[in-house]
Amino acid sequence: MFEFGDIRLRPIEREDLKVLHEWENDFEVIMYSRNMPINFVNMPQLEKRYEEWVKDEREQRFIIELVDSKEAIGIARLEHKDWANVRSADVGTYIGKKELWGKGYGRQITVALLEIVFNQLNMDRCEASSVEYNTRAHKVLEACGFRKTGIMRQSAFVNGRKWNRVYFDILREEYLKIRVELLKKVLGSKLDAYIEKHCSIKE
Ligand SMILES: CC(C)(COP(=O)(O)OP(=O)(O)OC[C@H]1O[C@@H](n2cnc3c(N)ncnc32)[C@H](O)[C@@H]1OP(=O)(O)O)[C@@H](O)C(=O)NCCC(=O)NCCS
Repeated sequence: MFEFGDIRLRPIEREDLKVLHEWENDFEVIMYSRNMPINFVNMPQLEKRYEEWVKDEREQRFIIELVDSKEAIGIARLEHKDWANVRSADVGTYIGKKELWGKGYGRQITVALLEIVFNQLNMDRCEASSVEYNTRAHKVLEACGFRKTGIMRQSAFVNGRKWNRVYFDILREEYLKIRVELLKKVLGSKLDAYIEKHCSIKE
């Protein structure tokens, strides 16, 4: 388990499939996270997916829960995408509890993923992408140091029209330059406890 400020990242257990079933069939959550809002999934299909996740060693999937209440609020994923000698990660997340959108958890989740990518897994770079209408997600990625690298034109069709997919990335050296500032911003008063437990930051 990885505790980061107000949130904890933990493995997805079979008992979580009930809440996942709700989120994975939520039109808005899936419209923003995967731009295929009609891809409904029933429980047997979700169980089958879960069995595949259990075997998959290239992708880690986490439940995001609140530290204080242990309430599950969303999921995050981290895919290992090594190319030649470059260790690359691709990350994504959604907050299934829509009433919690816009309260700063997205930034915390994103920085938590960056900490895992760079401070725990020693990777070289990290990518993320999102459909063009998801300006909330773009703001979060840019606030966490990601840079826009390009678009895949007209690669999604939602609500009657085609949309571009927007790609972002951040290099290890770029993250290390802004790391302390970012950690201060998202962790606030919990910064010292985090540093004590997980870091050897000397700046
Ligand atoms: C994207 C997501 C993870 C972001 O998490 P969050 O907790 O809502 O984000 P935060 O509160 O940390 O930050 C939201 C930012 O967007 C801004 N914002 C809020 N509502 C917005 C809107 N409707 N349009 C554009 N920007 C918006 C906020 O002001 C904030 O920016 P700021 O830091 O400059 O003030 C979350 O909204 C979510 O799960 N959305 C649905 C699924 C999804 O889009 N997943 C990501 C796919 S890549």
